[in-house]
Amino acid sequence: HMKLHVLRHACFLLDDGTHKVLTDPFLTGNALAAAAADQVEADFIFVTHGHSDHTGDAQAIAQRTGATVCCTVDLADGVFGPAGVRVQVGNLGGTIPMPFGSAKFFQAIHGSGVPGCLSCGFIFEMGGKKIYHAGDTALMTDMALLAEEDIDVALLPIGDVFTMGPADALRAVKMIRPKLVVPMHYDTFPPIAQDPAAFADAVQAAGFQAKVLRPGESLEL
Ligand code: NI
Ligand code: MN
Repeated sequence: HMKLHVLRHACFLLDDGTHKVLTDPFLTGNALAAAAADQVEADFIFVTHGHSDHTGDAQAIAQRTGATVCCTVDLADGVFGPAGVRVQVGNLGGTIPMPFGSAKFFQAIHGSGVPGCLSCGFIFEMGGKKIYHAGDTALMTDMALLAEEDIDVALLPIGDVFTMGPADALRAVKMIRPKLVVPMHYDTFPPIAQDPAAFADAVQAAGFQAKVLRPGESLEL
């Protein structure tokens, strides 16, 4: 009984009915955000890298809710540790056991905003589902490794300019072979304006399922 709530950009709330997992909570200053930072509930906040459109409100939400911030060792050392919030760390290739299941740190090709820190994505095992949150990334052949992971839902950036655009995201889908694709990281700023419906059509034409979710919409997985 898993729910995926879309809060926009790279921010999602995964809810198995017991645990709430929030990703990259950039809400304050995001005109498309589906929730206010002071209203979101979370037990764990996963942050893919140190750019402000991903760290966003993580510190404030962790301080208010007592949620644990989960991120790479370097992002914890550089940002969240000094901020005094509870952290749980891992690093690329590693899986951390979680009360809801597990989370694996998967590589991403992208800057991190913090010296010495690598960007990452996450593969969540939660509520009997596997959810790949790609973070900000370029297309990479490493994504072919994910075909063996039997991903139920792939959350993929399509905004272009700073990450994969729609054409490369489609190539990523063909490598990952997920059961469902949900595009993210588009329209937040003018340079990353995209047509997510056209992307979804292209994904479906390639033989995969895609769903475009509006801000605040949720999906039962
Ligand atoms: Ni970034
Ligand atoms: Mn970003």
